[in-house]
Amino acid sequence: MFLVKGGRRLCGEMEVACAKNAVLPILAAAMLTDEPVTIEDCPNLVDARNMLSILETLGCRVEARGKNVVLDASRAESHEMPEQLSKRLRSSIFMLGPLIGRFRRARVSYPGGCEIGQRPIDLHLKGLRALGVTIREAHGMIECDGARLRGADVYLDFPSVGATENVMMAAVLARGKTTIHNAAREPEIRDLQNFINALGGRVHGGGSDRVVIEGVKALGGARYRPLPDRIVAGTLLAAAAATRGEVHLRRACPGDLGAVLDKLRQAGCEVESGETEIFLRARTLRPFEVSTQPFPGFPTDLQAQFMALACAVEGASVIVENVFENRFAHAAQLRRMGADIFLSGRLAVVRGGKLYGADVQAGDLRGGAALVIAALAAEGESRVENVELIDRGYESLENMLAALGASVQRI
Ligand code: EPZ
Repeated sequence: MFLVKGGRRLCGEMEVACAKNAVLPILAAAMLTDEPVTIEDCPNLVDARNMLSILETLGCRVEARGKNVVLDASRAESHEMPEQLSKRLRSSIFMLGPLIGRFRRARVSYPGGCEIGQRPIDLHLKGLRALGVTIREAHGMIECDGARLRGADVYLDFPSVGATENVMMAAVLARGKTTIHNAAREPEIRDLQNFINALGGRVHGGGSDRVVIEGVKALGGARYRPLPDRIVAGTLLAAAAATRGEVHLRRACPGDLGAVLDKLRQAGCEVESGETEIFLRARTLRPFEVSTQPFPGFPTDLQAQFMALACAVEGASVIVENVFENRFAHAAQLRRMGADIFLSGRLAVVRGGKLYGADVQAGDLRGGAALVIAALAAEGESRVENVELIDRGYESLENMLAALGASVQRI
C-alpha cells in the first residue's frame, strides 16, 4: 500500500517515461523479425515485464541492458501461447497479429475481461478474418490459421486501438496491400508504425483513421525508443492541479495531450507547452466538463484522474465515460474520502469541495492513480491498497510524486 500525507503542493520538474501503451504492441511486433531489436528506455512496468515473459515463453531471447531491452526472436518457433499465461495477461491478445504474421498460425486463450469492462475482441477477429485468416474459437482457446493470409480492406466498426494494432502487425508480412478504415488514431498507433518501418516495414497513415500497410517479404533489426507516456504525463498534471502546485514536465508530448491541456486551462490552470515540455501552474480552479472519446478526444485513461481533480475543486463538474461501459469503480472509494459524486450510467456529476484522508482500495490501474491524486489533495493521512495494480502502468509512482514534494511512502 501507499501511505499518503495530503495537503502538500506538488512543485518541481519531472522527465516522462516511455509509454506503456506504445511499448506493449512494439514488444509484440518484435516477434515479426528474426534480427535483433533494441528497445531503448523500456519502462520497468508490471505489464511490460509480463509481455517480455510472454515473448520468452515463445522462444524469443530477452536481455536487459540497463534501461534498454534487447530482443532476438530468431529462434522463436512456437505459435502457441500457454493457456495459463495468456489467460492471466490481457496484453497477450497483442500476440495474435505477430504470430500470424510470422508463423501463419496462432493459438491463444480468450483474454479475460478486466475491471473496466468486458473488453471483447470481436473487432480483432473480424479484422484478421478480413485478411483471410480462418479462426476457430473453442474451449476458451482461439485457433488461427493464416495459411491464406493476404492484404485486404479492413473496416473497423469502432476505432479500437488493439484491433488496429493487431491487424497492422498481421498485415506487415502478408502478400499485398492492406487498408484499415476507421482505424484508431491514438499516438501509440503512429509509434507502432514508426517502429515497424524502422524494421523495414512499409506502413503509412498511422495516427489517421486510414492506415495502409504494404506487405514485405521480411524485416530487419532496429534500435527504437518509444514515445513518451501521455497518460503518465496527464496523471502528473492532474495531481499538480489537485494540490494547486506548479510542475514542469520534460520529454513530454504536448502534441498528444491537446484535449487534456485544453481541459486543464478550462479548469483554471495556467498551461504553457514547448516542443517536448509542459509547464502547469494551478492556483484558483473552477469546475469543468469531461466527455471521454477515442483520440484526439479526451482520453478515457485520464477520466478517473480528472474525477479525483474534480473532487478537489469547488462546484459541480460533469464527467461522461463514452469508451468503456464500467469505468467508475473509483467513485465509491472517492466517496470514502468525502467526495460527493452522483452516478447514472455513463454520467458522473461531482460536487467538489474538501477531501479527507481515508483507507481506500485501488480496483484498477487508472482508478488507483485517481485515489492517490485524491489522497494528495485530502486533509490528513490516507492508505491506498492494491498498489500492484498501479505498478502495472506507473514506474514507482511514489518516487515520482515524492520527487515533486509529495509525502507518499510504499509500505
Ligand atoms: C487500449 O486498450 C489501451 N490499452 C487502454 O489503456 C485504453 O483505455 C484503450 O486502448 C482506449 O484508448 C493498451 O493499449 C494496452 P479499445 P484496448 O480496443 O485496445 C471496445 C490503460 O489504462 N472493443 O480501443 O483494449 C471495448 O470494449 C488501458 O492503459 C470492442 O467492442 O481498447 C471498449 O469499449 C486501459 N471490440 C472500446 O472498444 C473489440 O474487439 C475501446 O477499446 C475491441 C474493443
